[in-house]
Amino acid sequence: MKKIRVFAPATVANMGCGFDTMGFAFEGAGDQISMRFIEKNEIRYVNDSGITIPLNPEENLMTPALHAIMDATGGRRGVEIVQERKIIPGSGIGSSAAAAASAVYAYNLLAECGYSSEELIDFALCGEMMASGARHADNVAPALLGGVVLIREHTPLDVFSIRPPERLYCAIVHPHIEVKTKDSRAVLPQELPLKTAIRQWANVGALVAALISADYPLIGRALKDGVAEPNRKRFIPGYDELKEAIAAAGALGSNISGSGPSVFALCDSREKANAVKAIMETHFQKRAIACNAYSSPVSMQGCRAV
Ligand code: HSE
Repeated sequence: MKKIRVFAPATVANMGCGFDTMGFAFEGAGDQISMRFIEKNEIRYVNDSGITIPLNPEENLMTPALHAIMDATGGRRGVEIVQERKIIPGSGIGSSAAAAASAVYAYNLLAECGYSSEELIDFALCGEMMASGARHADNVAPALLGGVVLIREHTPLDVFSIRPPERLYCAIVHPHIEVKTKDSRAVLPQELPLKTAIRQWANVGALVAALISADYPLIGRALKDGVAEPNRKRFIPGYDELKEAIAAAGALGSNISGSGPSVFALCDSREKANAVKAIMETHFQKRAIACNAYSSPVSMQGCRAV
């Protein structure tokens, strides 16, 4: 009986200024599932990951993503999904996106649908929609495609990949505090003063140019956010202090990863990323908050069969 095993990487959405429009994949964390057809026409979830996931199909965000791809390719079929590795939900490193991306990627291979990774984004977004109430692709797109991805338009989807410069490394810390994306989106303003908007799109343009031209100092200057960071930093204990310590360690810049509570920093060497990772761990250890930290190149690899 054919069985497909798939890994979807963790991702950092927003990249500071690119709220809902930019994200990148990194190594060291992700979701792994295996999938096979079963006779009964249902989606059956089996959990082997050690992290709690909804086993009820109606509550698992993979279900709407799978229904979307099945409905587009000849109808619903029974599959069993074994969750083998899982990013902790509510971490801000793309847990829901990795789940949705791995599900549609695996089904595409299992049922031989023939979609490209880019075409799978739309299906995976049905899962993201269930998780956060919004069809933002800034985790799903890098989880499927790898690298740095910019989403110019969601309907219809218009995404493009940016090959990150060679020496671009990231350090990421996930403090074990749960921040639900829905709650973290609820604290954002619905309208922006023109001045804030001007600064924001200037930084997005600069960040894209800096990534393409490997202008490391410009990456740092552009990694600013006047929209989400000022409103969300309250969820992260000692955020301003941590940001200062990260800068002092020589990072190009840092910001909140996705909707938080994870924090990421970009660096121009592996050594600096390792040093920043250690600073991040110490910051939360001092506050008696357990955390996982990663140091990784910005990964060119998206979802893949393993
Ligand atoms: N762009 C989204 C947000 C990512 O910041 O709310 C959340 O996964």
